[in-house]
Amino acid sequence: MESYILDWLNLLLRWFHLIAGAAWIGASFYFNWLNHSIRPPEDEGLEGMEGIKGQLFAVHGGAFYQVLKYKGAPAKLPKTLHWFMWEAYSTWLSGFGLVIVVYYWNAKLYLIKSGANALVPWQAILISLGFIVGGWLIYDFLCKTPLPKKSPVLFVTLGFALISVAAFALSYIYPPRASYIHVGVILGTIMAANVFFVIIPKQRVMVNAMIEGKEPDVTAGEAGAMRSLHNNYFTLPVLFIMISNHFPMTYGHKFNWIVLLAISVIGAGVRHYFNLKHKGHYNVWVLPVAAVAMFSLAFVIRPVPKAASKTFVIKKKLAYGDVASIIQKRCVPCHASKPTYPGFTAPPQGSKFEAYQEIVKLRAKMLTNVKNSVMPPGNLTGLTDRERAYLVHWLDHGAPEK
Ligand code: HEC
Repeated sequence: MESYILDWLNLLLRWFHLIAGAAWIGASFYFNWLNHSIRPPEDEGLEGMEGIKGQLFAVHGGAFYQVLKYKGAPAKLPKTLHWFMWEAYSTWLSGFGLVIVVYYWNAKLYLIKSGANALVPWQAILISLGFIVGGWLIYDFLCKTPLPKKSPVLFVTLGFALISVAAFALSYIYPPRASYIHVGVILGTIMAANVFFVIIPKQRVMVNAMIEGKEPDVTAGEAGAMRSLHNNYFTLPVLFIMISNHFPMTYGHKFNWIVLLAISVIGAGVRHYFNLKHKGHYNVWVLPVAAVAMFSLAFVIRPVPKAASKTFVIKKKLAYGDVASIIQKRCVPCHASKPTYPGFTAPPQGSKFEAYQEIVKLRAKMLTNVKNSVMPPGNLTGLTDRERAYLVHWLDHGAPEK
């Protein structure tokens, strides 16, 4: 019953997370596009256009819109001023809720690597919190130094180096999927905290000054603009990490942290192309280079057959009969119509391996998961290296029945 309730909590949080995230990123992309696309007003100097820096016309859903961008702030505060923050907060809250429901609650299953010196749940959870909070503190500290203004290249390089170290350390501490999600949670937390601790408070200072009838200090908006730009570059990597859990070829790779970094750089590069394009600079190289980089990555990390069976030389041709008992013992406790493994009420992803016909249908997926040691999760059922080699050999050779 407990896991049934958890499954529902998981579903509802995930659904909400996706909706809130779409709203947040949608608004962020829109304003970013707006900022880059807005042009000096066509009717400059006309009445009512004093203090206007930019103008933009758009047609959407059968209606025409005009947006004006102020040089500083409007002379008079309007009755209703729209703020954008709940998209960010609710995305972070639901995301962190998911971390709790999926990873902290089932720490043994998803957050702990099996082995002789395996962590216990509270240690794994404490380390996770340390990374999430620590990531923000270090990033925020760096932003407040003169570095980002004085030497943006050094700032970006240092930031990337730090993320790389975190990605490597996480891949060492946690099982593959948990390590990927944690890089995403660290970046997502930085993004939401940027809104909560910097962007919104700075805007408040500006608006409060206006309410008091003072000239608002627009430099307060500058720090916010920098954080906004960082958030913008984080979006594509974070979105990749959100969906990466469905792709064992990425998180299951031996050097999964490098794969993550490579895809993140490509994603941020594509984002850069669009930022340039909105400003009217067409850099024809970025997208082709990104495409070539993606294909190269796919080639470099392609599955190399028989890697796992190196240490176990299997000469004979294996048939289902040779591996059936391994699957029964190590996989079927979870992958059955009525799982016997505690905490499972239904076969994970609907995948059952009770009969040969079911197994053969999922042969390719089983191969990637077993070869990359993604399954069994945390090696909970104690699949031995020898059994893994047998299973990989059989699956790799077409999983023959006889
Ligand atoms: C302790 C329970 C458990 C055991 C034991 C287990 N799995 Fe899984 N398996 C899972 C869970 C949970 C998922 C779903 C992961 C996810 O949400 O992506 C999964 C997913 C899979 C998938 C992906 C299914 C799909 O349709 O995408 C494959 C393939 C798989 N397991 C193969 C195996 C094999 C082969 C074994 C035995 C060597 C095994 N599993 C043992 C829990 C288990």
